[in-house]
Amino acid sequence: MKFFVDTADVAEIRRAVAWGILDGVTTNPTLVAKTGRRFEDVRSEILQLVQGPVSLEVTDMTLEGMLTQGRQLAALGKQVVVKLPLTREGIAACKQLTDEGIRTNVTLCFSANQALLAAKAGATYISPFVGRLDDISQDGMGLIADIVQIYKNYGFATQVLVASVRHPTHILQAAKLGAHVCTVPYKVLDQLFNHPLTDLGNEQFLKDWAKVPGQA
Ligand code: G3P
Repeated sequence: MKFFVDTADVAEIRRAVAWGILDGVTTNPTLVAKTGRRFEDVRSEILQLVQGPVSLEVTDMTLEGMLTQGRQLAALGKQVVVKLPLTREGIAACKQLTDEGIRTNVTLCFSANQALLAAKAGATYISPFVGRLDDISQDGMGLIADIVQIYKNYGFATQVLVASVRHPTHILQAAKLGAHVCTVPYKVLDQLFNHPLTDLGNEQFLKDWAKVPGQA
């Protein structure tokens, strides 16, 4: 399973890149707003830092506007994936941009039927939001299971990109279900390293090593 980091914070992306396990980045208008910086500056720094796919989202909700913004974003670098909302216009833009050879990530997916529409339009990625479904007492990971099964049934090439991840258990469940990608907030990615027995074991190894003759 690929790991993307779900942030527009360049410092966080830099730290995740340094770990050597990062496959890509997803951003959205909210994450960009949180940085307090201009989108033009943020995206150009991210594109310099990351070789893998970087999702940049359109903000014009008309079909023509999405196509114009999508083409402009795609021209910024070969890593760019154009993020489009799961609306009628977004799906039409997905089909058109896909036909032009531009990679797409269809976002704000909350049902398996929506995911079917994105796959039929040739989306590179579909982004179902598991955390926001859990927030309203629906089964976020159940949606991932449905989409993975439906895409397998028909051999769709669209990759399931689990989004709105809130905790490490979401990642474990996504991996067990065979989702292609998880996009993860930096804080949750960092949590994946932690286990108390790793810390205790390491502490003991270092204590014992100090007892070995000739070692400081
Ligand atoms: O990037 C889309 C998604 O991951 C947003 O997550 O936490 O705002 O529901 P969240």
